[in-house]
Amino acid sequence: MSEFFQIAIDGPVAAGKGTVSRLLAQKLGFLYVDTGAMYRATALLSLRHEISLNDEDKVIALLEKSKLEMRNPLSPTEIDGRLTTIILDGEDISWAIRTQECSDGSSKVAVLAKLRKVLVKKQQEIARSQDVVMEGRDITFRVLPEADLKIYLTASIEARAIRRHTQYLTKGINVSIEEVIKEIKERDERDMKRKTDPLQVMPDAWLVDTSKLEIEEVVDLIVAKVKEIRNE
Ligand code: DC
Repeated sequence: MSEFFQIAIDGPVAAGKGTVSRLLAQKLGFLYVDTGAMYRATALLSLRHEISLNDEDKVIALLEKSKLEMRNPLSPTEIDGRLTTIILDGEDISWAIRTQECSDGSSKVAVLAKLRKVLVKKQQEIARSQDVVMEGRDITFRVLPEADLKIYLTASIEARAIRRHTQYLTKGINVSIEEVIKEIKERDERDMKRKTDPLQVMPDAWLVDTSKLEIEEVVDLIVAKVKEIRNE
């Protein structure tokens, strides 16, 4: 087990993982790591270079030639609703990776087994030297299998669709709720049915359903659990 405290959070699209993890990390003074941003950045990079999202070797070669940096906590100029700051070859792509095209592309590159190995290694390196709240789809069983606290954060499809729809509208992206439900179902299907490390609930993970809870309530529940584990 690591000398640092590791909180691993997995869950489906729009279950609230990002918002909960960021606030949780802030409260505990831990580093927040949004691993989905790495898959999104890889998709963006491939789309910009017009590389097929199935061409694993080319996608990896391109990623390895590029410099990807993540920054947390945010600096005062970066507080604009984003969860994390991600820089690709010096360019702030924190918002560019949040488009529908990139969301869709990220779940496509996420099926590539060799690419996953490369990203998992980067994520494990980050967790080696500090206390972390890391969220994604394979954190509880692949990236941090020895985590001190494992959580599977979920919510009903309706609650998730309403949240994602509101996020899109605030960003000026005009889509119908039906389209959002379709998008979420397609991404869930890809994340849960892929061959390599599909999203799954680990037997030792704590299942938290956020459908009827406010974000702060979820964060408080987890903080209380961390205190219990640390005998505080
Ligand atoms: O959490 P997110 O929506 O930003 O993730 C984008 C995509 O990346 C999502 O479709 C699943 C994939 N992903 C993954 O396979 N493993 C992770 N640890 C994180 C994200």
